[in-house]
Amino acid sequence: MNDLLFSQFIGPKGENISLLQTFIEKILSEQKTWRADYSPEDISLYKKTEYNNTKLIEEFEKFLERSKKHFPFFHPRYAAQMAKDPSIPTILGYLTFMLSNPNNHAYEGGPVTTEMEMEVVELLLKMVGYKTGWGHLTSGGSLANMEALWAARDFYNKGTVYFSEVSHYSWKRICKILNIDSFKEISVDKNFRMNCDRLEDELKKNEAMMVMANLGSTGTGSVDDIEAILELKKKYQFHLHIDAAYGGFFRSILLDENYNQSLQKTPLSGHVEKQLLLLSESDSITIDPHKQGSVSYGAGAVLYKNEELRDIILNTAPYTYHKLDKPNIGMFSLEGSRSGATAAACYLTYKVIPPNNTGIGELLSHTIVASQKFYQMIEQSENYDNLNFPDLDINCFFRKSNKKNISEVNELTLAIYSVLSVETENPEFMLSKFVLAPEIAKTVLPEYENPKGESLITLRAVFMKHWYTMNDFYYLKKLIDVLELKAKH
Ligand SMILES: Cc1ncc(COP(=O)(O)O)c(C=O)c1O
Repeated sequence: MNDLLFSQFIGPKGENISLLQTFIEKILSEQKTWRADYSPEDISLYKKTEYNNTKLIEEFEKFLERSKKHFPFFHPRYAAQMAKDPSIPTILGYLTFMLSNPNNHAYEGGPVTTEMEMEVVELLLKMVGYKTGWGHLTSGGSLANMEALWAARDFYNKGTVYFSEVSHYSWKRICKILNIDSFKEISVDKNFRMNCDRLEDELKKNEAMMVMANLGSTGTGSVDDIEAILELKKKYQFHLHIDAAYGGFFRSILLDENYNQSLQKTPLSGHVEKQLLLLSESDSITIDPHKQGSVSYGAGAVLYKNEELRDIILNTAPYTYHKLDKPNIGMFSLEGSRSGATAAACYLTYKVIPPNNTGIGELLSHTIVASQKFYQMIEQSENYDNLNFPDLDINCFFRKSNKKNISEVNELTLAIYSVLSVETENPEFMLSKFVLAPEIAKTVLPEYENPKGESLITLRAVFMKHWYTMNDFYYLKKLIDVLELKAKH
């Protein structure tokens, strides 16, 4: 374990918070000096600054109390959703610029943070292996997906959009918003990866505009067979978009400090390694710093290999984009105002924790190791079964049913969910559910009876925090103990 790397986070018990405190003091004093020194001949408008500001004091106290009702996303006991502690550089980068509130829509709204954003994008392009291309940050993965599909629709002007039935819900919604009637969901295999035979059946029937492959599906973190999809691309020609909102940063595990492929052994499976390397062969990518990139929310990204897709969505306005020799990101993006502070947060984070195997990659190796360890623990359990082997770091599992009956699995699994989730006050651990439609359940668990045609309910643990390997998998062992105990009640 790299102690210095791990200390770039506040820590589940606030272990490193004094470092943050020192830097926050510095940010505030710099801000004060900047304001005081700007145009020094100007007079101060404030005659007095020491007020008895009881309203603020009272409201802030109440506000702090209220803030504690939020779930402890920072803690390893919270494994329900894709939530983790932002890194210390993220907090510092964000706070520094939030105080002056830049807007990266246009260069004039945030000259420094726009340049930072472009540097972050250069780094992301390097990390995904694009030699040419362009991109920008977005407020999240859904917006990145939407912009990519909008650009593709207007560039190609015809054809069907294909994606697997376990894709993020934004895809269907975006097709509706963009008036794309011709979209088709493709069934998945036992590992929740797009069934490429079914995809080819469809490609034979209808000309494709785009195939969207998942590199880290939302439910199980599954990684589609990009290698097979690229073979189909040669035959049927289509735009390949990869939704790597969740999984894209795992490519950093494979890269050395110069962003070349490292020879170091990794904990990734052969399948995942291969698909991560092939990310560079796609035409566009969604990749979210606010998921596995250690940055706080508000940081998605869309990357395009072909810069022509940028010009197709060009937008101008008479009142902005004045500095045309500079990057005006809003001219080529779906969104208007976007926080420059978020770009600064990404910038500082990747200066300190680079997206290669010395930084983000090392952190993510731990999440993979933890997830595989937990898979083995469930394999050894008398009370639980794994749904599938995790491609990344999301584990789905369910209560064993000796009768091999889905109704029984659901009843037993829901009893556990009700005590280890948001459904109860102060649970010992927080997990989420992954619910599979009956047809998918039949593919994944063909030996199970399902006379009532029910959806299958499984427990879902997202091990995206790098702390699960620490102290000999301390929190994973605790989680297993709790799960076994609850199964006996
Ligand atoms: C694979 C995938 N794509 C897209 C999204 C949407 O991202 P966002 O919630 O940032 O809009 C998610 C969110 O979980 C996701 O898992």
